[in-house]
Formats: sequence, structure tokens, C-alpha cells
Amino acid sequence: MSPMRAVKNLKIDAGRLWDDLMQTAAIGATPKGGICRLTLTELDRQVRDWFRARVEALGCTVTIDDMGAMFARRPGQRADVAPIAMGSHLDTQPTGGKFDGALGVLAALEALRTLVEASYETFAPIEVVNWTNEEGARFAPSMIASGVFAGVFSRDWACARKDRGGESFGEALEKIGYRGRQRCGDHRLSAFFELHIEQGPFLEAENKDIGVVTGVQAMRWYEVTVTGEDRHAGTTPMPRRRDALLGAARIVEAVNACTRRYPSAVGTVGVLEARPGSPNVVPGEVFHTIDLRDPDADVLDRLEKEIAAEASRIGGELGLSVAIKTISAEPPVRFDAGCVAAVRAAAAKSGYSGRDIISRAGHDAAFIARVAPAAMIFVPCKDGISHNETEYSSIEQCAAGAQVLLQTVLDYDRRLAEQFGK
Ligand code: HGY
Ligand code: MN
Ligand code: MN
Repeated sequence: MSPMRAVKNLKIDAGRLWDDLMQTAAIGATPKGGICRLTLTELDRQVRDWFRARVEALGCTVTIDDMGAMFARRPGQRADVAPIAMGSHLDTQPTGGKFDGALGVLAALEALRTLVEASYETFAPIEVVNWTNEEGARFAPSMIASGVFAGVFSRDWACARKDRGGESFGEALEKIGYRGRQRCGDHRLSAFFELHIEQGPFLEAENKDIGVVTGVQAMRWYEVTVTGEDRHAGTTPMPRRRDALLGAARIVEAVNACTRRYPSAVGTVGVLEARPGSPNVVPGEVFHTIDLRDPDADVLDRLEKEIAAEASRIGGELGLSVAIKTISAEPPVRFDAGCVAAVRAAAAKSGYSGRDIISRAGHDAAFIARVAPAAMIFVPCKDGISHNETEYSSIEQCAAGAQVLLQTVLDYDRRLAEQFGK
């Protein structure tokens, strides 16, 4: 192996990265050109097997923890030094795109391949990570495995989370055969870097190649149950009804109206289920979610109180009970200054334009930042569209992100070696 100082200008292979993106996009491909590959399904198992085969072909050892997170390790000079990790997630939204999550894992795979091809020996071990259930689309909340890894959620609570069919995270993990033996979190990292599409409009609008992500906005998830009374749609006079769906509809309107009072806040009701769900029964119960985000946690405190007050008023008017349960409440994140500087320098060294940016989306790196130095790299996506089957970033944009990811890890590795006096 060549000593790490000897080799210069390692370049990722854009075509190979693009082929991997298109190959994995075929696992769960939807007719509209997106992906539906929900976490811990048979499709997730297939893409995990695909990933594992490729990293093992590169000589990596794969460790899987008891939340299904996958760590593919390439040795460095010093086995006693915690690895520098890079990665993201391979699960998608039901109408997900080809790049959300997959780009981060596959660019890390491509960076690793580039090191292997160059027989480049790093100082620290290097790891590529696939985090389980980043999206939270099947099991709420999102980033559940990286959350357990960082001590945000307990393993038992996370494994007991159920999907809307009643299957638990733990049962689904067992079913696809990816519950590993390592205790989630018992896995030291020297640093973690995540490449991701921006999922917003700013980089494209400013014609910037790279987003140097300095932090992530605060986000909160709630589950709401509105309870009224099942009644006959034909025989129950309007004034006698306790219509849970009418109440939920007014709460959805209130979430939107309250959120719009804060220019930087966003509020979403993404799931709403009326029960019993029959055309001629006045719904006696509604389950729905609320997702609130803002860079400032104080804004979310105020917004949360205002929405709760509105829900209580609506419930009182319609004779309904409204229960709001907080599922996750994450403060804003500031990434490690050293890691952010490494990303900024790598973008410049690689010849790309860049700008600092706060992530409006949640990411695994936001939780990993609590237990290891971490930062993120963004690349633009078309019209800022994501969580949509038309999500798109070009081969050049994906390659720029992968090249900056490789350069960041190389530079960080050299810095680590210097800290150890090597
Ligand atoms: O919700 C999010 O921001 C991320 O896509 N899971
Ligand atoms: Mn993502
Ligand atoms: Mn996503």
C-alpha cells in the first residue's frame, strides 16, 4: 500500500457512481421514475444485500448493529484509531426519489473504491455507513437508528415503534435478517461526513456546486388522536354529531394558519386516517401527524402552544377530545467547526464553488453530531424538489459531491495523523 502522503489527486469515477445510483434505483422503482423502498421491507433487504456484496468485494468487513445500521470498514494504518465514517441511508419515502439518502451511501462507496484502486493507505480506518429508517415514513420518528446510536431514543422504545399495519420495528428488522449483534452506539467514530442533495432551492438558485452545511434546523413530530363518536350518516342530525374528521380538518387548518405567522417556520400534516373509514359512518376517531420545523427552537415552543390551544378550542366546540403526543423534539444542530472547515477547504481544493447553508431537512448526521465530530456536504437538486419521484441531480452534481466527500475524508485523515504525531 502506498503511504498516504505519496498519492495525489485521487479522483472518483463519476460514471461508476451514476451506474450504482441507477442500479439501486431499480430496487423499488416506481412507474413515475422514483423509488418506493420503505425501511425493513423485502426491498430494503435487497438493497442492503446489494450494498454488502459491493463493500465486501472491496475487502471491507461489515458490522451490523442491533438497529440494523451497517458499517463497512476498510483498515487504515492504525486499527486502534476510531474510523472516519461517511454514509447516509438507503430507505426511501413511499414516493421517494433516486438520490435522497442513496447518493450519500453510494458516493461513500465510490470514495472507498477509489482508495482501494489507488492502494491508498489511510491513517485511520474508513467506514461507509447505511443507517436504518432515516425517513421515518414507515416507523416514526425519522432517523431512528442514528437516534438510538446517539442516545436520543432508547433501543426498546425504538424497536417497539409500530407501522400502521401494526408490525414493530424489531419484528421487521428480524424478518429481513438484519438485526446485528453489536449494541447500537457501541461503535466509536473519529468523525462522520454525510453527502446529501439539498432538497431545497438555494444552491441551484445561486448556481453553487457545493453546500457547506453548518447545521440543521430544529424539528418536532407529534401524533394526534381526535375522538368523537361513530354515528349513522343518515339518521344522525348534524347538531347531534361529534365528528372527529371535522375536528381534525379544522386542526389541520389551524396548523397551517399558526405556522404562517412565523416566516421561517414550516408545519405539515402528512398522515391523516379517519376511522372506521366507511362512507356512511360519521368518523368517531381520527389519527394524524404534525411535523413542525424552524431554525429557532423558541419559535417551535410558541407554535406548539398555539396549536395545542387551537386544538383544545376546536375540540370544545365540537364535543371532541384531542390528544397530542410528542414523538420527537430535536433542537437545532451546529456541526463541528473542524469538520465544517474540512468540507469548505475540500470544496475549494476540488475547484467547486460553495456556500454555507443550514439544512432544512433532518439527517442522520444531525444525531451523530451529538457523539462524534460531524458535518455534511450538499449538492443542488432540480428545482429543489425532493420526497417526490421527479427528484433529480445530474451526474456532474453527484460527482462533485462525491469528489468533495473523498477530499474531505482524505484531508481529515491527514489531520488526524498529525494529531497523533505521525
Ligand atoms: O424529514 C426529513 O427531513 C428527512 O427527509 N428524513
Ligand atoms: Mn435523506
Ligand atoms: Mn428524506
